[in-house]
Amino acid sequence: MKANYPNALQHPIFEVVAKASEQMNLKSYVIGGFVRDFLLQRNFKKDIDIVTVGSGIDLALKVAELLPNKPKVQVFKNYGTAMLRFEDTDIEFVGARKESYFFESRNPVVENGSLEDDQNRRDFTINALAISLNPDSYGDLLDPFNGLEDLKNKIIRTPLDPDITYSDDPLRMLRAIRFANQLGFEIEEKSLEAISQNNERIKIISGERIVEELNKILLTDTPSLGFLLLYKTGLLPIILPELTALNQVEEIEGQTHKNNFYHTLEVVDNICRNTDNLWLRWAALLHDIGKAPTKRFNKKQGWTFHGHEFLGGKMVKKIFERLHMPLNQKMKFVQKMVMMSSRPIVLSQDLVTDSAVRRLVFDAGEDVESLMILCEADITTKNPIKFKKYHKNFEIVRQKIVEVEERDHVRNFQPPITGEEIMEIFNLPPSREIGTLKEAIKEAILEGDIANEYTAAYEFMMRKADQMGLKKAAT
Ligand code: CTP
Repeated sequence: MKANYPNALQHPIFEVVAKASEQMNLKSYVIGGFVRDFLLQRNFKKDIDIVTVGSGIDLALKVAELLPNKPKVQVFKNYGTAMLRFEDTDIEFVGARKESYFFESRNPVVENGSLEDDQNRRDFTINALAISLNPDSYGDLLDPFNGLEDLKNKIIRTPLDPDITYSDDPLRMLRAIRFANQLGFEIEEKSLEAISQNNERIKIISGERIVEELNKILLTDTPSLGFLLLYKTGLLPIILPELTALNQVEEIEGQTHKNNFYHTLEVVDNICRNTDNLWLRWAALLHDIGKAPTKRFNKKQGWTFHGHEFLGGKMVKKIFERLHMPLNQKMKFVQKMVMMSSRPIVLSQDLVTDSAVRRLVFDAGEDVESLMILCEADITTKNPIKFKKYHKNFEIVRQKIVEVEERDHVRNFQPPITGEEIMEIFNLPPSREIGTLKEAIKEAILEGDIANEYTAAYEFMMRKADQMGLKKAAT
């Protein structure tokens, strides 16, 4: 007897698709992620994939006509697919096909096929599960590759020989790892081998699609599992060689440095416990990338990584460019986090002075909390005494941040005396002197020599101007 899941079909769209299909004499099914997530009792996805044995586009148009709000149908003629939005859900329609549709290809060959043909060409058995929307079999599960069994056993397996499935669309190598990470599944051995063998093929996939998968891995609870699989299969050195360059431990004169690749993965897992911010997670992933190119050894200091934060920040931009990631505020945020990633650590190792904290808050601005989260995640020492000490020092830093901010308001620093005012007071045009005075006032505030307020700043400025030989304009 076929497994039957009519309760999977509670979304009102299914009734309409069933009706449209009946009127058009088409066989239609819900397939893919929706079915998988229903069976896993996972949070429902925001999109539903419908496959029909016939034209997906014609079916979508008919469904739109039957829906009360007559939604617009987006048609992708080249791919023979169509999409409409209904009650916050994207409903995607595709005609069953013999060929897998390959996103990177400009002219995908699309040959009509049966439901089985279509299921064959999907990525994983757990994503090939379909539920019938047809009157004679409504709710029946169509599972030609034992996807249900794989769901129970937590296995990622391809319907066809993995070499074929992955060469149909090499992005699936990343998808396999992403699903394993998201769902806590194992990738079947044969599949893992095929990924290792075909890893070079990932080069033909666009940066955007690669990043979409990397983001999903980074948004899991334990991204290190995904990144280790990416590393093991040889995908990571192709996608993010800057990261795998950190996987080394050198020894000179008995002195070693830590393996910054494994350290980084630990930092990423740590940060996931404290933030859902994808870009802060990216910052954790990239915070040490400047260490490989700046690594030096000298007898006096041992291993050093001077300037790695600055170089790392520059590398962030290159990586974002290469992977076609957004080059906007998000990139700037990651860059800033990487560039400042050692600042609170230095504070937490020494006696924390007010002025150092004030400068930190001034430089980090609104992002100071994110920076603290990153730095706390960066503590991976296995020495419990040090671990405790660093965390305690960070607590002191945090407290000082609050105190300093309450008193001095430097987080969104606005100079208490503006450049225009200074020009007016001394009757000067825009000039170097104005810049010097402004900078001196800011420095005095950050150093704690004067309070961040008008009168103190004015008095300080007059003294400084006097030293510079500037005279107040006659009023
Ligand atoms: N699919 C595929 N090969 C791909 C992408 C998708 O075979 N490279 C098929 C799978 O059957 C998948 C379905 O298309 O289930 C829908 O793809 P998509 O929406 O990208 O993924 P989901 O499986 O729905 O899961 P998620 O939303 O978590 O990505």
